[in-house]
Amino acid sequence: MQITIEQGDITTVEVDAIVNAANSSLLGGGGVDGAIHAAAGPRLLEACRALRRSTLPDGLGVGDAVVTPGFDLPADWVVHTVGPNRHQGETDPELLASCFRTSLGLAADAKSRTLAFPAVSAGVYGWDADEVARIAVDTVRAWDDENPAALDEVRFVLFSQDVREAFARTAEG
Ligand code: AR6
Repeated sequence: MQITIEQGDITTVEVDAIVNAANSSLLGGGGVDGAIHAAAGPRLLEACRALRRSTLPDGLGVGDAVVTPGFDLPADWVVHTVGPNRHQGETDPELLASCFRTSLGLAADAKSRTLAFPAVSAGVYGWDADEVARIAVDTVRAWDDENPAALDEVRFVLFSQDVREAFARTAEG
């Protein structure tokens, strides 16, 4: 599997699936979640509401993930995951690792070959970008070792220069 790191807007990348840093409600928010809902169009919110009515009446748990179509996005699928919120005392790195691991598995199950991640929990949820980068890169590498050839490419698409640099330092180190 190829792992790449770039600066950009994840709503524009040409991949089979993108990951959304959502919240438990799945009903939208700010940051990358707001950008993905805006770019995917109103059918994405409808799909999320349908999930809440059917399988997720209490919302999606921290560290878990769920798939919807990408609707108006270039990506076929959106994998919604809920990162730990450091401001609410969610400081266990395993919760964040679970976001990456579960998203990789769901993307592969949906027959995706290429997947893009943002820096889950590095924004509103208050995690340090270097720590997110270390957990993200380690988790993707370990998953690839256990699931050889399950995905062709994982792209980390980082919005800001400082977060891109944190990921680049980690991947090279
Ligand atoms: N493409 C890629 N990355 C982006 C984009 C984009 N278009 N927009 C922002 N980022 P955040 P969290 C970066 O706050 O910390 C939402 O309200 C951003 O610069 O989006 O997991 C949800 O509904 C940062 O580096 O997600 C939740 O309530 C990274 O994405 C809450 O925020 C993550 O920042 C989740 O907080």
